[in-house]
Amino acid sequence: MTQPVGAYRACMSYAANDSPRPTDSHPMTPDEFRQHAHSVVDYIADYLRDIERFPVNHSVKPGEIRGQLPSHAPEAGESIDAIMADMDRVVLPGILHWQHPRFFGYFPSNSSGASLLGDFLSSGLGVQGMSWSTSPACTEIETLALDWLAELLGLPAHFNSASGGHGGGVIQDTASSATLSVMVAARERATAFASDRHGLHSCEQRLTAYTSVDAHSHVEKDMRICGLGSSNLRLIGVDSQRAMDAQALAAAVAADISGGYTPFMVVPTLGTTSTHAFDPLRAVGEVCQRHSLWMHVDAAHAGIAAICPEFRGMHDGLEYADSYSTNPHKWLGVNFDCTALWVKDRRDLIRSHTTLPEYLRNAATESGAVIDYRDWHVPLGRRFRALKLWFVLRHEGAEGLRARIRRDVALAQEFRGWVVADPRFEITAPAPLSLVCFRLRGSDAANEALLARVQTRGRIFITHTKVDGRFVLRMAVGQTQVQHRHLQEAWTEICACAM
Ligand SMILES: Cc1ncc(COP(=O)(O)O)c(C=O)c1O
Repeated sequence: MTQPVGAYRACMSYAANDSPRPTDSHPMTPDEFRQHAHSVVDYIADYLRDIERFPVNHSVKPGEIRGQLPSHAPEAGESIDAIMADMDRVVLPGILHWQHPRFFGYFPSNSSGASLLGDFLSSGLGVQGMSWSTSPACTEIETLALDWLAELLGLPAHFNSASGGHGGGVIQDTASSATLSVMVAARERATAFASDRHGLHSCEQRLTAYTSVDAHSHVEKDMRICGLGSSNLRLIGVDSQRAMDAQALAAAVAADISGGYTPFMVVPTLGTTSTHAFDPLRAVGEVCQRHSLWMHVDAAHAGIAAICPEFRGMHDGLEYADSYSTNPHKWLGVNFDCTALWVKDRRDLIRSHTTLPEYLRNAATESGAVIDYRDWHVPLGRRFRALKLWFVLRHEGAEGLRARIRRDVALAQEFRGWVVADPRFEITAPAPLSLVCFRLRGSDAANEALLARVQTRGRIFITHTKVDGRFVLRMAVGQTQVQHRHLQEAWTEICACAM
């Protein structure tokens, strides 16, 4: 299946009428850009159309990509033709094809034509929407698109900016950043915004946060970045379904309070990375309410499924949450990066992030009538990311998006059925949506060997995890172009590699 490098070129159609760059180096004119852009769009469209001609996985050794390119930047500018030739020669052989319909690894990072168009426009307009006044459309379309999405996901009304309260949504680069932002807000709320006055927290406050043993690793990373430390993150045990044990959470919070700690935040997950487990929001929320803890729901992948009412049961108890995030860049066809974060009360977020130097002052900000999204996260500058989300919501429509989720869940459930029916394999987690966790009955070594064979052959791409120390294979369905036959091909390949 592995193709020689030359074959990459054969299925590409880049053919701009290009001339060498002049040595006095003028930037590309709009007309030159038009010509190249048409060719690049053709290149992308051909790539997506012909993507099945590629092995899903690469076989690159460390340093191999860099080794094919000059050590120093060119003194004289090069033609776009020459650069595009290296896309074929160097770049394409060096990527894992995340948009390939036989990509079933990690969680998907799917994309769509409408999203790409929105992203092109964002780049083309080159807007930097740090404040409302630096591009009102950038802010207002983002607020609107997130209100639309909150409604489509059935989130509590208080997350919607139009609800009359203080809630609202913001687009962040990733779920990791979204949790970081609300962790800062939660830290400040728990310490009565002491850092407003002193700039530093007292180490003696010993703030503690809680998440399950199966939560994504970014929660720990964010604790470190917040200056609170990994050791102040309590990893709560899980039940037989690998959902957070709310009683164990209550006990851990009580023990910390008696031990002189200050519990401040709980991060339950909807759809854990390893096995798609769902923490019980209601039971966790009651603990949070009892102790005034910030509850942030990390629904990075599975939360998108709530666009279908039949999968919304996971939201039971969501009214307790102070914040919620999910990734349209994982499962809604919005190309990376696009994390949606909603907060119940944006004042906590803003107060903990805001700074207002003279050079950013403007009448709209002073009026208090606008949202300045630079106060909702770490970066000052921000792209017009909302365009790609807005394009997808409008072009695919709620019906189209629901159909996408239902297709993926149905395909994953059929795959699950094949695994169940084969006595060589076992299912290792409930798999209610689009992630199937399974393994060969037998040793970890046999499963590791199976995965290694699959990855080397490159026909399909799956990944693994460990659950209770056991090696488990993960099959995540969700590529935009995936069809039934790709699942059949995947199962045939897995069975072949199990021999
Ligand atoms: C449950 C969960 N939370 C958070 C993340 C981190 O996502 P991001 O790359 O957007 O930071 C992931 C990534 O897969 C995840 O599965």
